[in-house]
Amino acid sequence: MGDVTINGAKNAAVAILPAALLVDGISEIENLPYIDDVMKLKRAMEDLGAVVNVEDKHTLKIDGSTIYDYKAINEYVGNIRASYYLIGALLGRFKKAEVAMPGGCNFGVRPIDQHIKGFEALGATVKVENGMIKAYADKLVGNKIYLDVVSVGATINVMLAAVLAEGTTIIENAAKEPHVVDVANYLNMMGANVKGAGTDVIRIKGVEKLTGGKYSTIPDQIEAGTYMIAAAITAGDVCVRNIIPEHMYSVSLKMMEMGITIEEGDDYIRVIAPEKLKCANVKTLPHPGFPTDLQPQMATLLSVAEGTSTMIESVWDNRFQYVDELKKTGAKIKVEGRMAVIEGVKELSGAKVAATDLRAGAALVLAALRAKGETVIGNVKYIDRGYESIEEKLTALGAEIERR
Ligand code: EPZ
Repeated sequence: MGDVTINGAKNAAVAILPAALLVDGISEIENLPYIDDVMKLKRAMEDLGAVVNVEDKHTLKIDGSTIYDYKAINEYVGNIRASYYLIGALLGRFKKAEVAMPGGCNFGVRPIDQHIKGFEALGATVKVENGMIKAYADKLVGNKIYLDVVSVGATINVMLAAVLAEGTTIIENAAKEPHVVDVANYLNMMGANVKGAGTDVIRIKGVEKLTGGKYSTIPDQIEAGTYMIAAAITAGDVCVRNIIPEHMYSVSLKMMEMGITIEEGDDYIRVIAPEKLKCANVKTLPHPGFPTDLQPQMATLLSVAEGTSTMIESVWDNRFQYVDELKKTGAKIKVEGRMAVIEGVKELSGAKVAATDLRAGAALVLAALRAKGETVIGNVKYIDRGYESIEEKLTALGAEIERR
């Protein structure tokens, strides 16, 4: 019960920071979430020669004019998935890039063939060898690129490589996620010419130089959704603040279908949840569909709804790894390929569980909020990758949660 304020979007921040490598001047970026992935990227940028000043916990001032290196090869670079954006940015800036292969949350094969296809279409030669991705070009020239799958990462990466290329690049079948739009807005604010972000065709007219400026990252759609579900799973009444309600439509509408009251303001959503929730069928899809990054959290909510629900995961081929852990709290879920069949139970009970990835960790926290008794969650390092101050925020809403 109460209010919770949402921080800046992780998946926008981890793309905007590498994008700042393209700027031959100073970018001041506000509303960055204070999370591990952002701090690791800050370090990576400093290692490349950028001067990064911490203005406050959520604001970095990055001087991109001092960057001299095009190799991001430190071990921690490989630990974050978003390090793949360093390839697009360095390739765009220097026409060459060497970056340690991206790691990040492990849920099956996470190919980057579409990123590579995009870089090659712009004129780069790309090699993957010894755990490194190496991309070189004499010059980058705009081209038409059709993405075979709707990929957030490939869309943003091609955008990064194309903003300083000669001529016009057209990305067809582009991802439309809010953070794709946010990166385009940031680039445009710095002097780029990107049009159409948020639709499935993005046009990028190359410019000579990006010069710098001030930008504020959008709020985190997934953190917001996680707290909306926290309210719903505890039959609570919570106002989720500092968000863009339009980004939440797929989640709000599904929650309304489950009998939850959603009140929307300009920059907040109030969630008022009844004791009994109706079952629902959910399918994850690229934006504006239901986000895959809220799939584990939503499945947890469905596990205490009355009746049988289904959850179809259509973005990732192996994102039900958390189910075995969730079942330890009493949830009844059967996974059949890309579908989970969820039999609603009345109560969950405390258990000893471990996060298998970031959103799985968030789902286990949600289960723990609902469960009778104490739940101990291991591997919280995953949760720290994407949720700022989760204990403080939940404590303020009335939860009993501590870090040991
Ligand atoms: C981003 O990953 C997010 N990560 C993920 O969030 C999110 O789940 C995903 O987008 C989908 O919304 C970051 O922004 C850092 P994709 P990304 O390329 O860009 C296939 C979280 O929890 N594909 O949109 O890597 C791929 O296998 C994280 O915050 C190819 O086949 O995802 C997947 O099935 C986890 N070839 C689908 O496309 C490629 O070259 C969508 O992936 C690229 C992707």
